Amino acid sequence: MNPFETLRALYATRPVILAPMEDVTDVVFRRLCRSVGAHFCVTEFVNVEGLLRGCRTAKRKVQIAADDTPTVIQIYGSDPLRLAEAATVAERAAPTAIDINCGCWVPKIAGRGAGAGWLRNPASMVSMAKMVVERVALPVTVKTRIGYGPESDMPIVDLARRLEDVGVQALTVHCRTAQMGHSGAADWDWARKAHEVVSIPVVVNGDIKCADDARRALDDTGCAGVMVGRRAIEHPWIFREARTLLDDGVECAPPTWDERIDLCLEHLAANVAERGERHGVAVTRRHLTGYLKGLPGAAVLRQRLVVTDTMAACVELLEESRLRRATARTHDLEAAL
Ligand SMILES: Cc1cc2nc3c(=O)[nH]c(=O)nc-3n(C[C@H](O)[C@H](O)[C@H](O)COP(=O)(O)O)c2cc1C
Repeated sequence: MNPFETLRALYATRPVILAPMEDVTDVVFRRLCRSVGAHFCVTEFVNVEGLLRGCRTAKRKVQIAADDTPTVIQIYGSDPLRLAEAATVAERAAPTAIDINCGCWVPKIAGRGAGAGWLRNPASMVSMAKMVVERVALPVTVKTRIGYGPESDMPIVDLARRLEDVGVQALTVHCRTAQMGHSGAADWDWARKAHEVVSIPVVVNGDIKCADDARRALDDTGCAGVMVGRRAIEHPWIFREARTLLDDGVECAPPTWDERIDLCLEHLAANVAERGERHGVAVTRRHLTGYLKGLPGAAVLRQRLVVTDTMAACVELLEESRLRRATARTHDLEAAL
């Protein structure tokens, strides 16, 4: 299969995709989410200037290991020529596709014309995308929002058509305006409207928090796939839960206590191996709180974990809690006899 057929085949599976998230969607988290059902992943956005200068961070962000596929590399910038040039650099890492970020609302990015800044001038977004498409041999996709805000008639529908015309192979719509940032409800209906005017896959994104949201988003919009961001940080099992519901029509059991502890340990070990102990433990913390949510004694365990710096101490706390749970269960069983 050529890369275009490969991408089309991926979208034909009604994929549940891990969203690009800065400082979150790194190689470790991509592997972990794939292991619990994510069909494919998009890297955190990579600055084109960093990439073109050969900066170490940018180079690390575009590295794709043999077991880290399918992965799409996302780039961002405000200059079409630099974006096109950087896309050729990203292409050397052999990702599944190159995605252009046209959705980041953060003032220091959008205010400088990158990310959602492109939505202020849809015509220039389209000609930029055309330049990128023409420079690379891999499929090019775009992730954007419904509009900049506060338009009453969102540009996304016309944009979808025009991006398809210049050769963009898929479009992800975060169903908020740039001005909304992460607040207010995502309006999936704009993804439906965009999907209805194009034949390329459209992915619906924003506020997909459980398997049933994924099913509703696909049923209500007719879109090709869904993308999950924030919910995955605390509950990566959403991928397995959504896939089970979408593929088999049944609800999947929530993760067990043991599975939750195992995932904490796995994530910690992988981050420590990737980044060293101090940094590895620190970056895993934001996930552990969510992984342990709702379990008896989790609040105390979380409080202890956030002040723990070493891998060994984290493992001890987690294993201790597993043991306490097993002992409590044995006592319950004995009491019931
Ligand atoms: C911490 C964080 C970092 C993000 N970084 C990126 C990014 O690098 N590129 C991008 O396109 N979107 C980024 N986003 C936006 C998400 O990809 C997604 O569009 C948004 O969170 C809405 O989806 P959700 O409701 O499932 O979280 C980021 C979001 C968060 C919370």
